[in-house]
Amino acid sequence: MSGVTIVGTGHFVPGSPVPNDALARVMETNDEWIRARTGIRQRHFAVEGQGPSDLALEASNLALANAGLEPSDVDYIIFATMTPEHFFPGSGPLLGAKLGIAGIPALDIRQQCAAMPYALQLADGLVKAGAAETVLLAGADVHAGFMPWQDWDVVRGEAEREITADAYERANRHRGLAVIFGDGGAAMILRRSPSADGGLLGAELHSDGRAYDHLFVPGVGFRQIPYVTPESLEADAHIPRMAGPSLLKKAVRTLSSTVQSLCTSHGVEQNDIECFIAHQANDRINRAVRDALRIPSDKIPSNIARYGNTSAATIGILTDELRREGRIREGDLLCFLALGAGLNWGAALMRL
Ligand code: UT7
Repeated sequence: MSGVTIVGTGHFVPGSPVPNDALARVMETNDEWIRARTGIRQRHFAVEGQGPSDLALEASNLALANAGLEPSDVDYIIFATMTPEHFFPGSGPLLGAKLGIAGIPALDIRQQCAAMPYALQLADGLVKAGAAETVLLAGADVHAGFMPWQDWDVVRGEAEREITADAYERANRHRGLAVIFGDGGAAMILRRSPSADGGLLGAELHSDGRAYDHLFVPGVGFRQIPYVTPESLEADAHIPRMAGPSLLKKAVRTLSSTVQSLCTSHGVEQNDIECFIAHQANDRINRAVRDALRIPSDKIPSNIARYGNTSAATIGILTDELRREGRIREGDLLCFLALGAGLNWGAALMRL
C-alpha cells in the first residue's frame, strides 16, 4: 500500500526580518558570534495578537492553492506547535475555524522541533486506516512571547534609546536561547501517493523523557498550584531553559544514527536519497551530520540564515522553498530528520 505524499506546500513568516545586530541592542551578543555559532543572520517575530493559527492560516491557503484544492477538500488537520495561542485548546481547531472547515477532526501534536517526522507517520497511518484522504499538516510557532526582553520597539528598530541595566542583564541571562529562535508557519497537504512504491516509506521515531530538562519551560505548568504565579514570572520561569551544548552533541549523534538505521531497515542506500530535509536548529548540527554521514553539501540544504529555528514550522518552510525552486520533484527520495524538546527525535523517508 503506497504511503502519503506531498501534493501542496506553503509557508508564511510575519513582519520584517530582525537582523542579529538588532538583538545586540538589548543584550550582550553580536552578529559575528551568532553567525559563526549558529549560521543565523536574521529571524522574524510575530506581533501582539498574532498566534500560530494565524501564521498557519496564511501558509495553509498557499499550500491549498499550490495543490489546486479548496479548504473543503481537507478532511483532517494535524497541527504541530509548542506555542499554542492558549494553554488549551490547541491551535488545530482554531485553524479549522479560520479556514471555514470547522467540524473536521483537528489534532494538535506536541513534538516541538521534532514534529514533522512524527506528523508524517501519523498522517500516513490515518490515511492508510481510511480515517482521512486529504490531511492538512500545519506547523507553526510563535516564540516572541518567551523572548527575554520587553523593549520590542528597540529590537524592531522603531526606537533608539538605552534600555535599563536590569532589562539588559535579564535578557543576557537567556541570550543562548534568544538568538536561535524565530517565528513562522508552514503547511503541507498530504494524500496517498498514486504510485505503488511512492509516498512515505517509513519513519523511525524516538523519545527520551529522561532528558526533558535539556529544553523545557520550568514554571507555568500543572505541577504547580496555581499553574502560573507572579513569583514564577518574576523568576522568568515562563522562559524555556536550554542545555544548548549538550543538545547540540546529542542531536548530531542521534540524528546520524537514526538516519543510518532507518535506511538499513528499509533497504535504502543513502546515496539514493536526493535530499535530506533537516530541522534547522543550528547549522553546526547539520554540518556535523553531513560530515558523519558523508552527505554531499548540496543534498542537505540550509535556510537557517533567514529564519533561525522556527521549531515545528522549519521543515515545512524548507520543503516549500525547495519545491518552489524545483530542487525537489516528483520521484525524488527525501529524508526528513529532526530533534527537539522532549526529547523527541526521528527521521522519515518519502518518495515524492
Ligand atoms: O531546536 C531544537 C533543540 N535546540 C538545539 O538543538 C540547540 C542546540 N544548541 C545550540 O544551538 C548551541 O548550543 C547554542 C547556539 C545555543 C550555543 O552555542 P555554543 O557554541 O554551544 O555556546 P556555549 O553555550 O557553549 O557558550 C560559549 C560561549 C560562552 O562564553 P564563555 O563562557 O566561553 O565566556 C557563552 O556565555 O559563548 C557565550 N554565549 C554568547 N555570546 C554571545 C552564549 N550565547 C551567546 C550569545 N552571544 N548569544
